[in-house]
This record gives sequence, structure tokens and C-alpha cells, in this order.
Amino acid sequence: MAVRISPSILSADFANLEAELGRISTADWAHVDVMDNHFVPNLTIGLPVVERLVQVSPVPVDVHLMIEQPDRWAPAFAEAGAASVTFHAEAVQAPVRLARELRRLGARAGVALRPATPFEPYVDLLAEVDMVLVMTVEPGFGGQPFLDGTLAKIRRVRAAVGAAGLDVWVQVDGGISAQTIERAADAGADTFVAGSAVYGAQDAAGRIAELRALAAAAHRHV
Ligand code: DX5
Ligand code: ZN
Repeated sequence: MAVRISPSILSADFANLEAELGRISTADWAHVDVMDNHFVPNLTIGLPVVERLVQVSPVPVDVHLMIEQPDRWAPAFAEAGAASVTFHAEAVQAPVRLARELRRLGARAGVALRPATPFEPYVDLLAEVDMVLVMTVEPGFGGQPFLDGTLAKIRRVRAAVGAAGLDVWVQVDGGISAQTIERAADAGADTFVAGSAVYGAQDAAGRIAELRALAAAAHRHV
């Protein structure tokens, strides 16, 4: 199983985003958290800023939309050049239509689940998406502790992806660090968002390499 590291710029210096993206050039993706103060109790950045981030990022941009009405707002992020656009299952009205629209626009389509949202109602959506994001904290803020109660869901998503014979990535987001990434990898995650763990490190590239090595070792033991 491949390992992909997607540092979240939520923990970066928002006054210096181009330079902060430069610090993660050895990562696979740059994770950009869009929050609308309605779906989650926090407000970050919107489309005009994401458009510029896509232009200057050394790695593809992985947009995580923590917003209401993703059916209405998500396609513009794909049009802006985000290589992956993830919407929340709890907010979307027509997930199949939206996922197809995102793919038609050239983006990978992802569906995200809050910690208390079960995966099973979405199992038939697997053929329509490129990634399932299992939130491992309640979305809204960086720096929260990893919720071990989400590990069983990660395992169920991985099993369903395997049973369907699909190449759908299983992403985890929230509390991923050198202390927790092996548990998530062992449960079947292959794509790892890490905000505070990467941007809180003096040597971001070193931390990315460390996380990658820990996840790869955990996969070898599975
Ligand atoms: C939280 C965001 C995460 C956040 C993760 O709602 O979706 O991407 O940046 O931060 P850490 O890795 O610090 O938990
Ligand atoms: Zn996120």
C-alpha cells in the first residue's frame, strides 16, 4: 500500500503561505482546510485564496471543504485547479452528482465522514469517489487529540474498498503524529493529513520523512 503525506496548512503561518508551502515540497499533497463558520465553528479561507495557493504550491492541492452546501460551492475549487476536492457526507445533497461533476472537471473526488458518521450508508458511493476521508477528530481545529474510536471505522472502510476491488484512497485527518500514525496505518489508512505535527516541527521535511517511514513500516506489518 502506498503512503501519501498531506500536511495541513491550517497550522502554517497564514501571513506567509507561499513560503509555508515551500516547507512541504517533499510531501505528496498540500491539504487546504476550507471552513465556513456554519458546518464547523471556525472560518478559514475561501476560493480566491485557494486559487492563488494552487498556483504557487510545489505539490498538488488537496482541498477539504468543511462547508454547508458543497453541491453549490465545491465545483469552483476543481475549476480553480485543486487536484482533489473533498466534501462532507453530512452536508452534501446529491453526492453522486457532485462527485461526477468534480471528476468531470479533472479533480479527484473525496467524501468525508465526521467521527460519529457511520460509513455503511455510503458504501455504494465507493465507485463514484477517489477517496474516503475518515475524520479522526471533530472537524474545525488543528491540534486536537486523535480519537481512537475512529480506528474501527478506518478498518471497515479499508475492508469495503478491498471487497469492491477499487483503488479508493483512505485518508485520515486529525491528531496524526509520530505517536498515532502507525495505528491509523495499521487500520488501513494510506493518506495522512498532519497539521500541527508537520508545521510545529523545526524541520518540516524531516517530520514528513519520519511520518512516511512510520506509516510504511506499519503497512508492512499488516
Ligand atoms: C481539522 C482539519 C485538519 C487539521 C488537522 O478540522 O480538517 O486538517 O488541520 O490538524 P492536526 O493535524 O493538528 O490535528
Ligand atoms: Zn482537513
